Amino acid sequence: MIRIQLLDSSMKTMTNTYGWANAPDVMKGILKEKINTWEENVEWFRAAIEDSDNLHYMIMDEDFHVGNISMRNIDVVRGTGEMMIYIGNELSRGRGVGYKAIKEFLKACLCGFVKTVYVTVAEDNVVARHLYHKCGFVEEKTFKDAFIRDGKPINVIKMVRNNED
Ligand SMILES: CC(C)(COP(=O)(O)OP(=O)(O)OC[C@H]1O[C@@H](n2cnc3c(N)ncnc32)[C@H](O)[C@@H]1OP(=O)(O)O)[C@@H](O)C(=O)NCCC(=O)NCCS
Repeated sequence: MIRIQLLDSSMKTMTNTYGWANAPDVMKGILKEKINTWEENVEWFRAAIEDSDNLHYMIMDEDFHVGNISMRNIDVVRGTGEMMIYIGNELSRGRGVGYKAIKEFLKACLCGFVKTVYVTVAEDNVVARHLYHKCGFVEEKTFKDAFIRDGKPINVIKMVRNNED
């Protein structure tokens, strides 16, 4: 069973996250440019757990932590937030884990303050774009050459999902 649970700062969770967030395929997908040191990773956890403006969950396949999903930049006045997901464990990809995790996550968030969820996705990230469409997101705007990856400009797309949809 796929479920989500609030991020904890156990050594196991921090070690998993450190490896995944610095892996080239995840960095490429989530548009992250810089490799973090272990100290920066620990500091990120300290801030993330205290921070009430962002929500961070672990994606669990039974008792195995396989990825992370977050809502960042939450604006309670507008009721908006930016979702970010990665399945860090490569063996867990392509098996519907992302889909089930997003469904669970949206259920949890949409019951609260966040009514409109958006994602920023690289135009060439066809798996993520397909997954977001399947979860009810629509492509709102393409930003040309908005991000530099491996020294080359790439287009990114803002996709949006409204609770009313
Ligand atoms: C994007 C990501 C979260 C998807 O998670 P996942 O668990 O593999 O996704 P799922 O298995 O639930 O769904 C993948 C879907 O993409 C489809 N897919 C796979 N390869 C594809 C391709 N080349 N073109 C289009 N669709 C593709 C699958 O068939 C599946 O769709 P279906 O259920 O309709 O058959 C995961 O690949 C990941 O973590 N990637 C690295 C980080 C990243 O890119 N995060 C997103 C940032 S915007």
